[in-house]
Amino acid sequence: MGLFENEYGYFSDDGSEYIIKTPFTPRPWVNAISNGEYSFIVSQTGGGYSWRFSAGENRLTRSFQDIIEDRWGKYIYIRDNDTAQCWSLSYKPMCREPEHYEVHHGIGYTTFIQEYKGIESRWTLFAVPGQPLEIWRVKLINKSDRKRSLDLFTYMEWTLGNAPDEHREFHKLFIDTQYNNDINGFTVRKYMSDLANAKGQHSNRSWDYVAFHTSSLKPVSYDGDKESFIGMYCDEKNPKAVHDRVLARNVGRFGDAIASLQVSVNLEPYEQESLCFTLGCADNGEQAIVLAKRYNDTRECEAAFESMKNFWKPLLQNEIIRTPDKAMDFMTNTWLKYQAISCRIWGRAGYYQVSGGYGYRDQLQDSLIFLESAPEYTKERILIHAGKQHSDGTVLHWWMPLGNWGSITTCSDDLLWLPYVTENYIKETDDYSILDEVVPYYDGGEDTLYCHCVKAIERSFMRFSPRGIPLIGENDWNDGLNGIGLDMKGESFWVGEFLYAILTDFIPIMRLKADDILADKCVDVQSVLKENINKFGWDGQWYIQATTDWGDKIGSKDNKEGWIYLNPQTWAVISGIADEKRRKQCMDAVTEYLFKDCGTLLLYPAYSEPSEALGYISRYAPGLRENGGVYTHAATWAVVAYIMAGQPEKAYELYQKICPPNRSYDIDSYKVEPYVTPGNTDGPQSPNFGRGGWTWYSGSAQWLHRVAVQWILGIRPEKDGLLIAPAIPSAWDGFRYTRLFRGTIYDILINNNAHVNSGIKEIKLDDKKIDGNKLPDLRDGKCHKVEVIMG
Ligand code: GLC
Repeated sequence: MGLFENEYGYFSDDGSEYIIKTPFTPRPWVNAISNGEYSFIVSQTGGGYSWRFSAGENRLTRSFQDIIEDRWGKYIYIRDNDTAQCWSLSYKPMCREPEHYEVHHGIGYTTFIQEYKGIESRWTLFAVPGQPLEIWRVKLINKSDRKRSLDLFTYMEWTLGNAPDEHREFHKLFIDTQYNNDINGFTVRKYMSDLANAKGQHSNRSWDYVAFHTSSLKPVSYDGDKESFIGMYCDEKNPKAVHDRVLARNVGRFGDAIASLQVSVNLEPYEQESLCFTLGCADNGEQAIVLAKRYNDTRECEAAFESMKNFWKPLLQNEIIRTPDKAMDFMTNTWLKYQAISCRIWGRAGYYQVSGGYGYRDQLQDSLIFLESAPEYTKERILIHAGKQHSDGTVLHWWMPLGNWGSITTCSDDLLWLPYVTENYIKETDDYSILDEVVPYYDGGEDTLYCHCVKAIERSFMRFSPRGIPLIGENDWNDGLNGIGLDMKGESFWVGEFLYAILTDFIPIMRLKADDILADKCVDVQSVLKENINKFGWDGQWYIQATTDWGDKIGSKDNKEGWIYLNPQTWAVISGIADEKRRKQCMDAVTEYLFKDCGTLLLYPAYSEPSEALGYISRYAPGLRENGGVYTHAATWAVVAYIMAGQPEKAYELYQKICPPNRSYDIDSYKVEPYVTPGNTDGPQSPNFGRGGWTWYSGSAQWLHRVAVQWILGIRPEKDGLLIAPAIPSAWDGFRYTRLFRGTIYDILINNNAHVNSGIKEIKLDDKKIDGNKLPDLRDGKCHKVEVIMG
């Protein structure tokens, strides 16, 4: 048995691959692969699509969202010329059932391994680091004792711009496919882009890139037109050209643009052959040719595969945990980092949500994932997001990177994530110089990052209700509550707590900057917040979430539905707004009403009627997503809150419920990939209680990683060192955590033979006892052994 094995798949021994055994997983189980600029997504059937920079604005290959049929992909057909039998190197599109089928989703690559009619095929797809292309490495092995004459046919449809191009009859008119014998393949241009030209006009500018698709073997033929390849009224399952073994060589501007290359491979019995294909999006025609020539070489492709592996290593391996919990190890060491980096920050698209845009708060939070491995990337994101702030402190809710346009709203928490993430970056790195970086405002002018952060905080101060609670505006973290505060009267208690927490950490920074008047003001605001939230926000047993423009409470026992929300409880604890007694009371309410078998619900009971007054949260069916489902992102905060409220066993129980490999055993109810986090899981009011949804493109990945290392393992950076404060299950004998901290490696071995949850009896640093529970900030670039005895 493999690790966490079920009928669909299992983890490799070291957790670095997830191996799928069948095309028939209950939902598409995909890999979102990105090198930071060029990305693609690929499912276990062979579905998926590619893009550069932005999946929404610069899609290379055509696809439409359809998780049931999963019928849009980039494919390779294979034809046995002696028998005229055809199949494909992935299950789709020909849908033959091979004798053996395996899909290995790894870090930066996916491999399809199958055996059909005596031919073993291994098809690996990966993106080349630092280059705008993906490589398809193909190995064919003749396992039969007859000589085989095989033809391979690649296939994809071009989009080259905004996706999805549902108005295909318009868009196809601008695509120009050219076959270039010198590069064994195609270069493809598009003479129209939806992006504005210099005069601000749309649809009057050429696409900025040149796509290419080439082969290491000299093609025997090719086609650039869907009509001749597929055949009128046929489909990808039965393309005419593959059956007839004739590619029509139609290229140019007058067809429906696709790319297909036909190559022939003859194999003696037990002989094998390796070949490769490229697919890319170059800056111009010259670069397309240079890249194609370089990577039309199987040895160069092997080298590129190795460089891809080395590219990922430091991002994942600068921090490694070894605990008694394999699910925690696999997710923390590998998959959550990979998910957050490859999908959320770089690719920004998944099967359930195709974005391409940057969310102001989303990718800022995601960028915390780099803190342990490569904090310079966190810094880069902070500075980019600072540049999306207006000079009045407000920010774009989201923006599109190529079109450079975004959405202006009165969302109340977006802007505050800038000081929050900046402060966390400083805590990790001690790099205060980031505060002096000068960044332009989105509407002109410029300021230091410190001033950008201060503007965000001061802007929030200007949005308080007369009784001293922050206004919710168009929404707070909960985007779905977008009906209650449009008139800028409704309040958000959660924003109050969040702001309070930020001030706690930002006041010392203000003092350091000798900004004492502001720091003093922030101290006053904090005390006002604490008093008012406890006065107006306390509902008897828990904190309410919000009030509406017309003065109703949201998340109160007096409500017909939605009596209790999760975030105002967890953040009352995290921020320190709640005193000892209320911490306990509100977390007990979380346990009583929200803690279910698959995690903590975002609210309970769910709304059953659509209400314009509440917002789109109420438009989801009860139990789905924000409307009473488990919103994984918010559930991770409950893990922290339970720990801070002194309930580590409860915290761990919750952690286990939302840690995906643990769902491997009820996979037919869970349905989605057990190696990445889902955005949400259906709540008890859904007939599919426990069903995972919206995997990959979820802000929960970074947070689930963070709560494991910083709160359960309890090792977290502070200004002057690494704090050791585990809050582990008492059953654990201990754990090991090796991490880079400010350029120095700390190899920390925690012994819990005492079987306690927390408490430190002794710490030895390089065999010498130290006082307290903080490792000093050594910064000597060496590796230090740390032994900790709990008790
Ligand atoms: C979506 C948004 C995120 C928001 C969450 C809760 O995931 O991307 O920004 O906080 O929904 O509504």
